[in-house]
Amino acid sequence: MATILDDISRTFSEYLLIPRLTRKGQRPDQIDLSTPLSAVEGNNAARFSINIPVVSACMQSVSGTRLAVALARQGGLSFIYCSQAIETQAEMVRLVKSHKAGFVQSDSNTTKTESLEGVLALMGRTGHSTVPVTHDGTASGKLEGIITDKDFWEFEDDLTRSVGEHMTPIEEVIFGREGISLREANQLLHKHKKDCLPILDDKGHLTALVFKKDYEDHRRHPLELLDESKRLCVGAAVNTHDYQQRVPALLQAGADVFCFDSSDGFNEYQLDGIRWIREQYGNDIVIGGGNVVSAEGFDFLVQEGGADFVKVGIGGGSICITREQKGIGRGQASALLEVVKRRDEYHAETGRYIPICSDGGLANDTQVVVALAMGADFVMMGRYFAMTEESPTPKTSINGQMYKPYWGEGTRRAQNWQRYSEDMSTRDLKFEEGVDAYVPLVGTTAEVLDTTLFKLRGTMINVGADSLAEFREQAVLTLVSEQSVIEAGTSNVFQFNSGRIVDDNSWGNPN
Ligand code: IMP
Repeated sequence: MATILDDISRTFSEYLLIPRLTRKGQRPDQIDLSTPLSAVEGNNAARFSINIPVVSACMQSVSGTRLAVALARQGGLSFIYCSQAIETQAEMVRLVKSHKAGFVQSDSNTTKTESLEGVLALMGRTGHSTVPVTHDGTASGKLEGIITDKDFWEFEDDLTRSVGEHMTPIEEVIFGREGISLREANQLLHKHKKDCLPILDDKGHLTALVFKKDYEDHRRHPLELLDESKRLCVGAAVNTHDYQQRVPALLQAGADVFCFDSSDGFNEYQLDGIRWIREQYGNDIVIGGGNVVSAEGFDFLVQEGGADFVKVGIGGGSICITREQKGIGRGQASALLEVVKRRDEYHAETGRYIPICSDGGLANDTQVVVALAMGADFVMMGRYFAMTEESPTPKTSINGQMYKPYWGEGTRRAQNWQRYSEDMSTRDLKFEEGVDAYVPLVGTTAEVLDTTLFKLRGTMINVGADSLAEFREQAVLTLVSEQSVIEAGTSNVFQFNSGRIVDDNSWGNPN
């Protein structure tokens, strides 16, 4: 007969944290949110850590290069999706790794013969007030001068005159040589009191621009996640079909961390994959496994495979219909609590600490906080990042509100990539495990994370914790009744003109 568990499958919204002693002098800016992604042996330092406990999901509609750059700049990590050809995924990893923070390609360029009227229109279209003048009007042409909105007056000068007559000619332009470090470029900007520094190769061709405002921006991002060569870090998802080709290609492209992307990782194909990676690369590679929802799933991936971290969650994702399609899954809180308990036992038995990632179904900031309090070392989110400016999908206006498309990896849309790959034998999708949807656009990655992490730090102070490890140790949680969930919102008051929408338990809420 089947085993029926006594415990009910529970979700995050059923729990609340009980405040503990807040100490005088605890301050949000002193809270340490760094967390390991690799297994930690004894008292050794983790081989790889992130600076905030947040990663973005291995999904086409989430983890593109723009998001990967934006998230790494905040201290987190994106996992570039593997539901694409190996070459294109490797190219995306390469793009993130080659993103030189501070060095940007010029996207508004002109020629000497262009009229002031033309350059004014270009400035209006792009919003850029500094425009390089190159011999052919491209971003890599020979630099002949720079024109800015300070070089002519729209209502005083004759706008039919040419750019050449008003620009600062190359002989007077302060520029940097290709190969210069960002620090040196900023020193030049500072010394010459400039806002923009063109970078030229030895033939005088433009290669990049460095802006003073980006220097200030860099100072505002002290948690930026950088590798030893000061390049941004990026993760890459892999699958059980082609890891023997994909992993070497991604490694060569510079991926820092790997993770198997599977809705059910308790399977022998994934075990083979993790073992193969360990045999080939030993501990040089950080590889995560999952997803699992039980202690035995954890043991399988860690004890038998040697996974660095374990991803927990089946069926909780916002676009996920796995539970109704296949009847498998588990409430995310119950799954996480069981795996964390087993992780802690394993740690006590072996001295090996395995970071746990809570993946999917986080519907608001409170649930992120509860997941971390319950023992997750970091969370993976899809919808949260799909709603940002930097997600790879186009903005769409519906009834006057801006939305972005968001679809599951188990949809026909996501799986279609295989039709264009050489190996068409791998999957014939008989049913979908995800849906194709829209989510509201809520702002930039920096803006949404700022709020989420501010709340997290605030709650950690309520619990008297200065680090995520202390938060886990000190957290006391209580189950709440349905009635107290109702009470958690406002009660017995009238709110006029509050603009509240009904589903106020979600990040999509404009309030
Ligand atoms: P979200 O943060 O609630 O949107 O959930 C994102 C997570 O859902 C991902 O990290 C995956 O674990 C999971 N997921 C992605 N695509 C699908 C799908 O098509 N079906 C089921 N789960 C999915």
